[in-house]
Amino acid sequence: MPKAPNSDLELYTDAALTDPYPIYRELRDLGPAVFLRKYGLFVLPRYDGVRQALENWQIFSSARGVSMNDTMNEALRDGLLCSDPPRHDVLRKIIEKPLTPRALSELRDRINSEAEAHVDRLVARGSFDAATDLAQYLPVTIVSELVGLPDDGRERMLEWAPANFDCFGPMNPRTERALTIVAEMVNYAFTQCVPGKLKPGGWAAMIWEAADRGEIAKETCPFLMNDYMGPSLDTTIFATANAIMLFAQHPDQWDLIRQNPALIPQAINEIVRLETPIQHFSRYVTQQVAVDGVSLPQGARAIVLYASANRDERKWNDAEVFNVMRAGTAEHLAFGFGEHVCVGSHLARMEIRALLAALAKRVKRFELGKTERVLNNVLRGLAKCEVTVH
Ligand code: HEM
Repeated sequence: MPKAPNSDLELYTDAALTDPYPIYRELRDLGPAVFLRKYGLFVLPRYDGVRQALENWQIFSSARGVSMNDTMNEALRDGLLCSDPPRHDVLRKIIEKPLTPRALSELRDRINSEAEAHVDRLVARGSFDAATDLAQYLPVTIVSELVGLPDDGRERMLEWAPANFDCFGPMNPRTERALTIVAEMVNYAFTQCVPGKLKPGGWAAMIWEAADRGEIAKETCPFLMNDYMGPSLDTTIFATANAIMLFAQHPDQWDLIRQNPALIPQAINEIVRLETPIQHFSRYVTQQVAVDGVSLPQGARAIVLYASANRDERKWNDAEVFNVMRAGTAEHLAFGFGEHVCVGSHLARMEIRALLAALAKRVKRFELGKTERVLNNVLRGLAKCEVTVH
């Protein structure tokens, strides 16, 4: 069986993080699996290969971590993200409890009314920063309160969470810098996110209650904190700001939403397909395997490049076009797929939908001002996205 082609392409330079899409296209054209010499890692850049890996946890395992360096894989070893069944099933049941559509239905009215009131305030100002003023509001005020972490330190979360994602990269200066910040977050998880300090009834406290019932060991609890602390903020924040940037750049698509707000759920799929907030994680290859006829050796680590799969021209017509009417857009892989499919996706969708629905009632046009990109090893999003609204 042919081996994967080698490539010297780099994924983590400033230039690559600023505009990764031409590199992803080159990788897709090179083959279904490519060996990246610079990092000693394989990458799966095409839709079918990413989906195959995500569907097959026995061969593409998460239990040895899903990041691109060993330090982080060791640090997260006991959490949900970095586990395989049957342990994964036990942990997932605990983490997912407050995040199922049924559990979230109690939250919907609150999220909708907070979104309406907040958007009212912003629109009255005439211009605002969609990356901060708009996108941070629901995750920071409502979600972080529901997680119920102690206030002392919670304000650091917006610094900790993206650093956490930076640490998933290969060992580079960006990862090294972030590791020192994340050390504080880990310390907070172990020393502050404990019974007596967590808000009673919060999601984090529920993890310790599961340990009290004997469902998991108490030592596992601090590791599971990361499953709420890491992904509940920036993922959603970045997706929201990406949405506004796309609608500002494509006013015809915003007109479609304003004419028919029922399109919003589908539009969210198209937004995260085209601008995927988590660009990739990785998997450990437990036995030799073929990906579309190309062989990956046992013991390899393979990057599952969701963001490239989501633009694979083999899968999508006019893959780079933003089209909220696109058929089949729900098949994107921005929330992953299979065992580890995002457990917070219903919440993220609920937040983004509430904001877009409130905006659709009040805003005809977004006029884009200054934008500034965040350069993160794994996340794609904006630090600044100034808009004037009409
Ligand atoms: C737009 C927002 C979001 C995006 C794009 C996103 C993306 C993803 C992706 C791609 C995965 C799959 C990981 C894998 O394949 O290994 C994932 C898993 C996960 N997400 Fe999200 N996420 C978002 C929001 C959230 C929120 C709001 C939460 C928590 C409140 C959350 C919690 C998690 C957890 C705990 C997992 C691990 C699930 C498992 O391993 O079974 N995510 N997310």
